[in-house]
Amino acid sequence: MVIVEGVPAYLYLDEEYIAHHLGRRQRGYGRGGRQQIERDHAHIQTGVRHGYTLGSPIGMLIENRDWVNWQEGRNQRVTRIRPGHADLPGAMKYGFHDVRNSLERASARETAARVAAGAVAMKLLEEFGIKLHSHVLSIGRVKANPPMMAEVDAAREAGDTVGGVVEVIAEGVPIGLGSHVHWDRKIDAKISQALMSINAVKAVSIGEGWDLLDRWGSEFQDVIEPVTDPDRPWQRKTNRAGGTEGGMTSGTPLVARFVIKPIATLHNPLPSVDLDTGEPVQAHFERSDVCQAPPAGVIGEAMMALVLADAFMEKFGGDSIPETKRNFEGYQATVGPRLRYS
Ligand SMILES: Cc1cc2nc3c(=O)[nH]c(=O)nc-3n(C[C@H](O)[C@H](O)[C@H](O)COP(=O)(O)O)c2cc1C
Repeated sequence: MVIVEGVPAYLYLDEEYIAHHLGRRQRGYGRGGRQQIERDHAHIQTGVRHGYTLGSPIGMLIENRDWVNWQEGRNQRVTRIRPGHADLPGAMKYGFHDVRNSLERASARETAARVAAGAVAMKLLEEFGIKLHSHVLSIGRVKANPPMMAEVDAAREAGDTVGGVVEVIAEGVPIGLGSHVHWDRKIDAKISQALMSINAVKAVSIGEGWDLLDRWGSEFQDVIEPVTDPDRPWQRKTNRAGGTEGGMTSGTPLVARFVIKPIATLHNPLPSVDLDTGEPVQAHFERSDVCQAPPAGVIGEAMMALVLADAFMEKFGGDSIPETKRNFEGYQATVGPRLRYS
């Protein structure tokens, strides 16, 4: 069950729109057998009438078809703990004797719920001209598109897995979302936390974060230029900072990158230890992805959309879309060179 709160009334929302994003999460080169079992669809249960949101919480139900396979008597206990997954800390923390209890909850299966919630956030943002997209920048050591698939194939053939770098971009974001006065409301900090929370993500950067080490200040800042495009209140020469300054959006596209590690479940398992006996064993293997970078992009879009929708509603939020539009347009009319303060 997914519950999304804080969506204003009169947003047009249909299940097909959400299904489109859920389908994108399920595809991608390097996916494993689980995607043959699941056919994700979010059934809207509450908060929408005649296609439009009501302002009340939106409840959506996504079936987990694999769940039945883990019921009593249908499967063996899993005790051969995998390094790099939630198996060992999960079993110790909760006192479980079967790693399955942690394994399934830690699985990125839960990101189907995030993508459904994120699709609602994206639909809201689109009403205000904000669009999100993502792409894979590299897989393992390879940086260009067709050889990246060969890298996935090579990892699969070796019984191994491979990670990658993913970039998420939001365009059309207004200037001034977030805060420079509260550390916990800084938009770059919130985006980082949201992306870092995706299973297996181990590093996040905003803009050219990782690449700026060898630059001097004059080579890094995004120079402000006189405006020549009447549709843009401010213009920059570059976008190295990735659309944030001082914890607020700066009006340029928001750009975040993250590193997703190679998956822990290896066809050719690593040595490990049995949870029951402490004896050396090979780590557990079951149906698994080889590379999760492509679906992680879709999940990254969802996470960034949730953060942006929150910040957007904090600044412009009304109870309905028309009220929010009035607030938004009123603000947009005040930002630009020679500030229109009053
Ligand atoms: C889209 C996606 C698919 C994933 N598929 C698998 C998988 O098939 N097998 C696996 O071992 N880990 C998979 N993972 C990673 C695990 O969920 C993750 O490594 C685990 O929860 C432990 O968390 P940590 O890596 O952040 O420490 C996937 C992650 C994502 C984002």
